[in-house]
Amino acid sequence: MLFRTSLGDFLKSLIRRRNIKNGKDNFLETNVPKWPRTVFLETTNHCNLRCVMCTFHGHKKTPQEISLKRPMGFISRQLAFKVIDELGGSGEPIWLALHGAGEPLLHPEIDIFVERAGKYSNLNVGFLTNGMLLSSKLSEALLDAGIRWLSVSIDGINPVLMEKYRVGSDYQKICANFLAFIEKVRRRSLQVDLHVNMTIQEEMKPDVDKFVDHWLQYVDQVSVSPCRPVGSRKSYLVPRGVRRTPCYMLFEMMVVLWDGSVALCCEDWFNQVELGNVQSSSVYDIWHGERFNNVRAIHEAGNYSAISLCKECDMWFNKTPEIYFDDDRGCEVVVNAWQKVYKKLNTNERDLKNYAVQ
Ligand SMILES: C[S@@+](CC[C@H](N)C(=O)[O-])C[C@H]1O[C@@H](n2cnc3c(N)ncnc32)[C@H](O)[C@@H]1O
Ligand code: SF4
Repeated sequence: MLFRTSLGDFLKSLIRRRNIKNGKDNFLETNVPKWPRTVFLETTNHCNLRCVMCTFHGHKKTPQEISLKRPMGFISRQLAFKVIDELGGSGEPIWLALHGAGEPLLHPEIDIFVERAGKYSNLNVGFLTNGMLLSSKLSEALLDAGIRWLSVSIDGINPVLMEKYRVGSDYQKICANFLAFIEKVRRRSLQVDLHVNMTIQEEMKPDVDKFVDHWLQYVDQVSVSPCRPVGSRKSYLVPRGVRRTPCYMLFEMMVVLWDGSVALCCEDWFNQVELGNVQSSSVYDIWHGERFNNVRAIHEAGNYSAISLCKECDMWFNKTPEIYFDDDRGCEVVVNAWQKVYKKLNTNERDLKNYAVQ
């Protein structure tokens, strides 16, 4: 098992902590990248399903109950364009995901947002969807708009089990929609990265291998994610004895909610930590602002429990994955705190990687 960077990260973090305490080094000025590498721009937090495991829409909650914890809505065109144009104008490569705590295909202007982002060659734009509304017409519109990646949530290969947990879903329809989308990509010879994600319930475990084999025939990447109890940020995929380091998300990722609020990270479903609002500030100013730097400094100092969301969270572990090559499937497997990801590689990519085993 190879944990590529955990010891290195830990030592670096000790040195940073000592330097911050001694006032010798302004780590945050020199080590926060100019722009986030990943931006989640939540187009809406409304959803057409009520998946039982979903922290935001779990089927026992009514929309009224949910809106007490965070207002529900759709991003305005003006605000979406403001964020997209600023990120596009940065010229930096940014992975832009147009989903958050809801279903992005419910937004009537989703293709217009993709088209706006698609004009910027530095923005790798796409989203994760439950696939229910991925009609032929919308698929054509998204491909015309220049979508670069699409990920669909499909939980296993058993329609009865999937529909039991993804309440309101239709397994056959989602698979048919996605396969038709894939067919359009092939017919047009487009370079769209295609992913599928399975959230695994206990009774689906025997089907995981078949699911992976089935979807690797059609897509570039298959991920399988153990279902976490609602609201839990703990993961059994984190090996014992790995020392905690500052969370990479705070240094790489920005999460913008539909009303412009900037959340702490993608685990901040109810916007418990607000770092600013892009309606009144720029992405750049919030990214380098005092509130963002404060939470980074708390992590650098090792005071993880000072932020209640971070106290019980394993998501920081993403930075130190186990990586190996699955010879039988001919793909790379990356294990992190959230999921196991099976990625198809071309021969060049495979040759460049070193799968040393410890
Ligand atoms: C919140 S959804 C948003 C996008 C879209 N509505 C969808 O379902 O793909 C993002 C992903 O989180 C997964 N998810 C929801 N609850 C989960 C849980 N308790 N544990 C692990 N993954 C979960 C969903 O299956 C989905 O793939
Ligand atoms: S489809 Fe996605 S956002 Fe909607 S309830 Fe299910 S997991 Fe939550």
